[in-house]
Amino acid sequence: MNTPTRPVVDPFFDPRTWTVTYVVHGGPGTPALIVDPVLDYDPRSGRTGTASAEQVVAHVRQLGLQVSWILETHAHADHLSAAAWLRAELGAQIGIGEHITRVQKVFAGVFHLEPEFRTDGSQFDHLFRDGETFEVGALSVEVMHVPGHTPACVAYRIGDAVFVGDTLFMPDVGTARCDFPGGDARALHASVRRLLSLPPATRLFMCHDYPPSGRDVRFESTVAEQRAQNIHVHDGVTEAQFVDMRQRRDATLEMPTLILPSVQVNIRAGQLPPPEANGTTYLKIPVNAL
Ligand SMILES: [Fe+2]
Repeated sequence: MNTPTRPVVDPFFDPRTWTVTYVVHGGPGTPALIVDPVLDYDPRSGRTGTASAEQVVAHVRQLGLQVSWILETHAHADHLSAAAWLRAELGAQIGIGEHITRVQKVFAGVFHLEPEFRTDGSQFDHLFRDGETFEVGALSVEVMHVPGHTPACVAYRIGDAVFVGDTLFMPDVGTARCDFPGGDARALHASVRRLLSLPPATRLFMCHDYPPSGRDVRFESTVAEQRAQNIHVHDGVTEAQFVDMRQRRDATLEMPTLILPSVQVNIRAGQLPPPEANGTTYLKIPVNAL
């Protein structure tokens, strides 16, 4: 039986972006929240789509859930967010970490966004401070600022479950990259140690899985499993060892396929840029900027 301290977690894995969207609730008919929803985007045609988000909505309606929050762990660089679409569909609020304003300032420059673009986070309904708590029905949510992958990353701790965003991946994959603007391997190490100081049985839900060949997709782990087995940050790995590994590895990684379309939409809480005079919306590609 599910109690308020053990929320029901319903995952939706998007095989195109390796992203997991979660619906978190206390059982049928209860208040709920959605973590990291995906807006479909085809980079060849420039078309967006809501098939993935519609699956989430169908699930929510089937269970009679009342979604009050759509939570982003960070401004994702690998998928567009469906938060704005879901807000209109479900009437929920969108929340993200307060340091999103730093990310907005950096990328307003990178994309040379319109002068009306605000870098105060006001596209979101709420900006969370580290340690902030709020209630969703019988569920209590605690926000943890876990910078490193980006300066604004947060994790959401709900009962015995933590939605870790891009900090940890499954133990055989390791940790998130730290080479985007504002990324910091030393900060990620501290964030990961903070997550891994939670009780050993704490359930950890990944934002992504990139399964090595031969293994099925998995996105749920525990603190104990990560401390014993994570290839980058198992117990005993020092900060210096981690930072050295992370920096050498990041130097070999290509940019994510959707980083340019994703970031300019996600810093707007998943809204597309305003249409131009002809009524068409354009996404920008800065040349030789990244
Ligand atoms: Fe990310």
